[in-house]
Amino acid sequence: MAWNTFRNLKTVTVLMMAGVLLVTFCIIYKTQVAREVFPRGSISRTTHGNLTVSHVPLPPSLKGRKLAFHQIYEPRLISFVNYSNPFPVVRNGSKLILLWTPWNHQWDTVNYYFLRPGNESFVSYHCPNQLCTTTRDRSRLHEADAILFHLLDLKENDFPTSRHPQQIWMIYVMEAPWLVHVSWNRLKGIFNWTLSYREDSDVPVKYGFLGSRTTKLLNTPHFSEKKKSILWLVSDCSTNSRREDYVKELARYIDIDVYGSCGTKTCFPSQSATCYESLTKEYKFYLSFENSICKDYVTEKFFNVLGYDIIPVTFGGADYAGIAPPKSYIDATQFPNPKDLAAFLAKVGSNETLYASYFKWKETFQVYLYPWMCHLCDRLHNPGQPTSSHNDLYKWWVTDANCIRWDMNKGFIRV
Ligand SMILES: *[C@@H]1O[C@H](CO)[C@@H](O)[C@H](O)[C@H]1NC(C)=O
Ligand SMILES: *[C@@H]1O[C@H](CO)[C@@H](O)[C@H](O)[C@H]1NC(C)=O
Ligand SMILES: *[C@@H]1O[C@H](CO)[C@@H](O)[C@H](O)[C@H]1NC(C)=O
Ligand SMILES: *[C@@H]1O[C@H](CO)[C@@H](O)[C@H](O)[C@H]1NC(C)=O
Ligand SMILES: *[C@@H]1O[C@H](CO)[C@@H](O)[C@H](O)[C@H]1NC(C)=O
Ligand SMILES: *[C@@H]1O[C@H](CO)[C@@H](O)[C@H](O)[C@H]1NC(C)=O
Repeated sequence: MAWNTFRNLKTVTVLMMAGVLLVTFCIIYKTQVAREVFPRGSISRTTHGNLTVSHVPLPPSLKGRKLAFHQIYEPRLISFVNYSNPFPVVRNGSKLILLWTPWNHQWDTVNYYFLRPGNESFVSYHCPNQLCTTTRDRSRLHEADAILFHLLDLKENDFPTSRHPQQIWMIYVMEAPWLVHVSWNRLKGIFNWTLSYREDSDVPVKYGFLGSRTTKLLNTPHFSEKKKSILWLVSDCSTNSRREDYVKELARYIDIDVYGSCGTKTCFPSQSATCYESLTKEYKFYLSFENSICKDYVTEKFFNVLGYDIIPVTFGGADYAGIAPPKSYIDATQFPNPKDLAAFLAKVGSNETLYASYFKWKETFQVYLYPWMCHLCDRLHNPGQPTSSHNDLYKWWVTDANCIRWDMNKGFIRV
């Protein structure tokens, strides 16, 4: 998954941050009132001219308010939503979230996806409701309003020994089903809420979302500099989706350069923003191929790339048409086979006008990091009914994920 990459990037990120922030502050940008925001929820659709984009309701506390947000750049060109917070927040009744497990054996907050200690994440995101605090201190178990368990770090003999009836137990899982090996039966009926990339989670934790553009569009792709065809940066060579088989077939019809441990090319420093920056200028297409094709599974492989001047070719289980504007990507799963996809890519890649039409969406939209911690905090204050009372976690997480994969002979088949 994504967070290894993210961790490797950390040092570079910190260095780049300083530079990029400086540049950003030198660029004159206006804070605009966003016309709409698309954090998550039950998807509804808005039409902008011919663009139809799905969007998701705001936390209840934001309803009826005009949001102003502004953003900062990260090296990977994905923006933080910064809900600026002109209205007073309630200062009493803070909710305490106890982080019971680490995240993949580590307490590194980057891997906890920006869930920093104390109220820092909620405050730095200018969440509409910042009255939440996280802690690792198990002696505060009885005070905790909610407990967060990362599924892959759960130990069967390490559960809290008591539980008060109002305490919300939250299971957090971001890996696709095939990477999760736990005793599902023992987890039945334990948790109140789910946190995951699934749209039907109680608190969806997504890698990004498309919102209205609030900053000036700086670049357009320089078609003439794009001498190369397809770029694939990949380190996991054997996957559940069998993307490697698909790409092998695709490569019979169109040039693909494979960077990273599954390929022959390297870029230094590996997986850095510098590499992304320079490679995406040279290539026309980027393979945003997920390791699994499962319900709603779409990672930074898609969202980060949308920030660059390259067309993502997707291969995943998300409803891409529901999360991104038309002509912002090309969906491989919509083609009967790799040969047809190759023909289509060749066509788009050889016609500058057609190629440029895949960047038109950027005039209206930009990609943001998903402020899931704001939704979490808001939800703790307005719990309502669980949207997904998943007593049977296995059924929800694995069976209902409806994963498929590529088969050389049969095409896309159920896993
Ligand atoms: C919508 O698409 C149609 C057909 O492609 C085109 O004629 C029309 O001008 C478009 N409208 C807008 C507002 O872009
Ligand atoms: C928080 O403060 C508000 C206004 O002072 C009050 O109405 C409300 O009952 C308080 N809530 C809690 C949980 O103490
Ligand atoms: C959000 O905006 C405020 C100003 O409104 C700024 O002080 C803060 O640093 C910003 N936070 C982030 C994470 O960009
Ligand atoms: C966040 O925590 C700091 C330090 O504990 C505290 O001073 C501040 O008031 C808190 N902010 C909110 C919105 O609760
Ligand atoms: C959370 O789930 C437990 C176990 O199913 C249940 O006993 C408890 O009432 C639930 N708590 C809330 C606040 O929903
Ligand atoms: C290039 O694409 C544009 C837009 O789709 C189309 O109108 C034009 O005919 C194409 N040119 C060639 C040479 O195919």
